[in-house]
Amino acid sequence: MKFTVKNEKPAAVKTGCVVLAIFEKRKLSAAAEQFDKTTRGLLTNLMRNGDMDGKSGQTLLIPDPAGAKCDRVLLVGCGKAGEFSDQDYRAAVAGAAGVLDRCGTTDAVSYLADVDVGDHGAYWKVRQLVEVTSGALYIPDAHKSKRNRPAKPLRRMGINAGGAKTKPAQQAITDGMAIAAGVELARTLGDLPPNICSPAYLASQARSLGRDYPKIRTSVMEEAGMRKLGMGALLSVSRGSRQPAKLISLQYSGGKRGDKPVVLVGKGVTFDSGGISIKPGAAMDEMKYDMCGAASVLGVVTACAELLLPINVVGIIPTVENMPDGIASKPGDIVTSMSGQTIEILNTDAEGRLILCDALTYAEKFDPEVVIDIATLTGAVIVALGSHPAGLLGNHKPLIHDLLKAGKNSGDRCWELPLWDDYQEQLDSNFADMANIGGKGAGTITAACFLSRFTRKFHWAHLDIAGVAWKSGKEKGATGRPVSLLVQYII
Ligand code: BES
Ligand code: MN
Ligand code: ZN
Repeated sequence: MKFTVKNEKPAAVKTGCVVLAIFEKRKLSAAAEQFDKTTRGLLTNLMRNGDMDGKSGQTLLIPDPAGAKCDRVLLVGCGKAGEFSDQDYRAAVAGAAGVLDRCGTTDAVSYLADVDVGDHGAYWKVRQLVEVTSGALYIPDAHKSKRNRPAKPLRRMGINAGGAKTKPAQQAITDGMAIAAGVELARTLGDLPPNICSPAYLASQARSLGRDYPKIRTSVMEEAGMRKLGMGALLSVSRGSRQPAKLISLQYSGGKRGDKPVVLVGKGVTFDSGGISIKPGAAMDEMKYDMCGAASVLGVVTACAELLLPINVVGIIPTVENMPDGIASKPGDIVTSMSGQTIEILNTDAEGRLILCDALTYAEKFDPEVVIDIATLTGAVIVALGSHPAGLLGNHKPLIHDLLKAGKNSGDRCWELPLWDDYQEQLDSNFADMANIGGKGAGTITAACFLSRFTRKFHWAHLDIAGVAWKSGKEKGATGRPVSLLVQYII
């Protein structure tokens, strides 16, 4: 998809489709009002006839509007004018994109960014429009033998953000397109089947980013290297798999030589069967998404490189497959992590923290400004927060504050849970320094408590994305979250 700034009046612009906002009840947005005047009341007449009254979710496509230069006009219901929230705006933009993609036009000009959304400026509205529109056009049909694509899909969109705002609108398009590309990469990888998307496949993807972008350097450590570093926790997870573990590092050098990097650590379990503590069969296919943290790291690093952001970013991806086998880890096994701390594995399905703890210790060598790990870590976060925000925990107030703010701004939200010392005793083990599970209650917090024992040397935050990284049911598919949140934080 290509986006440009378009400042022409709605009835004067030559395009396949003009997109206009309508509020309840039959209230025209400023651009719709202009369009209505030039077309001698076309829109007011339609509304008087009851074709549409502006309720949110409504769309109405009108062919060949007399008096205007466009081939079609698409009216988008936006609800009550004074109550148009960030979420409503995103829903209206997504609804419009769906209709446009199937109505036979390849180009459109949208005036949706010209309406008031809270107190957001043109930059925010245009960037959201670009991100949401791009996201709405994603179809995961790479493995369908017959692709069911629109004959004439939407390819170009002009955006009007109310005239004189050309500069911020232009920047918003640049940023939005880079973020959309990062989100799309994360979704594409997430949706791949686990027989294709293996640890080796993620490594090859990371290497290809290193080839595509001069400012990205990729290196991949094999199991022998990890053994040398003493990564006994990470290696214990991949023991049961025929697929060897990989430890991927991507260094994006957009900043000065000595600038401390933002380090992102992404959980890359390409399939989580649970191991010997095997999961029940229902919906087990969804455990192919257990690498969405890793995918988001690849997406964020891509967006940073697209935008040439003046900052250093390091992506670390521990990637493994968690499988049962004759030599797989067993409940009761004790392993030694790279930090020297020993871990009693009471449940082989709590594998994410085992690979992350060694990757977090490894992160020390990059002398980080902050470390953020991103992981589909616990089912418990879905119980606590559902699928709206990611769970956020960490050891540094300012970092938590910045992530909450970036989440709110990007629409890709997170919510803090308490990382109190009170929970730490749930990890006590009679035989090792700690157990890998915290027993009943507060599963997301005890998982973060476990990680906190490996992050004492730096500012750290943890995003538990098990609830937000993909959708289940009819709409099953990866979401690309939290790429947008993290790029916003880095910007
Ligand atoms: N990958 C899962 C977390 C998960 C579960 C994500 C369901 C999305 C949906 C993780 O490795 C896991 O299995 N966690 C266990 C931890 C438990 C054994 C302490 C869980 O959440 O059940
Ligand atoms: Mn698991
Ligand atoms: Zn897992």
